[in-house]
Amino acid sequence: MIKKGLFITFEGADGSGKSTQLKMAADYFKAKGFDVVCTRDPGGTALGSKIREILLHHDGKIATYCELFLYLADRAQHIEEKILPALEEGKTVLCDRYVDSTLAYQGYARGLDKEQIMKLNDIVAKSLMPDITFVFDVSTEIAEKRIGKTKDRLESEAADFHRAVRSGFLNLAQEYPDRIKVIDASQDINKVHYDTKEILDNYL
Ligand SMILES: Nc1ncnc2c1ncn2[C@@H]1O[C@H](COP(=O)(O)OP(=O)(O)OP(=O)(O)O)[C@@H](O)[C@H]1O
Ligand SMILES: [Mg+2]
Repeated sequence: MIKKGLFITFEGADGSGKSTQLKMAADYFKAKGFDVVCTRDPGGTALGSKIREILLHHDGKIATYCELFLYLADRAQHIEEKILPALEEGKTVLCDRYVDSTLAYQGYARGLDKEQIMKLNDIVAKSLMPDITFVFDVSTEIAEKRIGKTKDRLESEAADFHRAVRSGFLNLAQEYPDRIKVIDASQDINKVHYDTKEILDNYL
């Protein structure tokens, strides 16, 4: 496949502001005349929405490897059905979470082998990695306040889990400095967007 469009992912802990910033970045790209596709991982396809429902709301224990393979199953469908075709058509794809969430949550926080996760991800994602990844970084305390009272299955994990996720994302940013850009997401929404735009402008 010939990838023509840009693939940009929005990462960070629950409540860090990913969805808010993805929408603002999409409006920015659209104003510049880009053809934009906004999507999310998990749940970017009809099949994926069913997997997302299990991942976020299954009532009961999910084995760690079952969780990992549900995310990867969702991604396999998402890549083939939606992301790759859009990139081939030259569209700009903005995706809410992607492989770095799998590494942060299932790798750093749940303790699965990160190299193994990368190998499996490479298979399902047909080796597609983002051109740019934003990590919206915010303290666990601020994120918790933003999430509010209605929490999904992962948001309901203990504070230590969320701290491991956060430091996981920061470690990944050190490991992949060319691809991953960390943004201070404790700032107000417009300043976070401004910092995001600055990185996008440099890249474009
Ligand atoms: N920079 C910010 N300052 C204050 N509040 C913010 C900021 N960014 C987002 N919010 C608010 O925090 C809440 C969570 O934001 P958002 O849904 O964008 O986070 P998220 O990272 O997508 O969360 P989730 O992982 O749960 O999907 C929303 O109510 C949003 O309006
Ligand atoms: Mg969100």
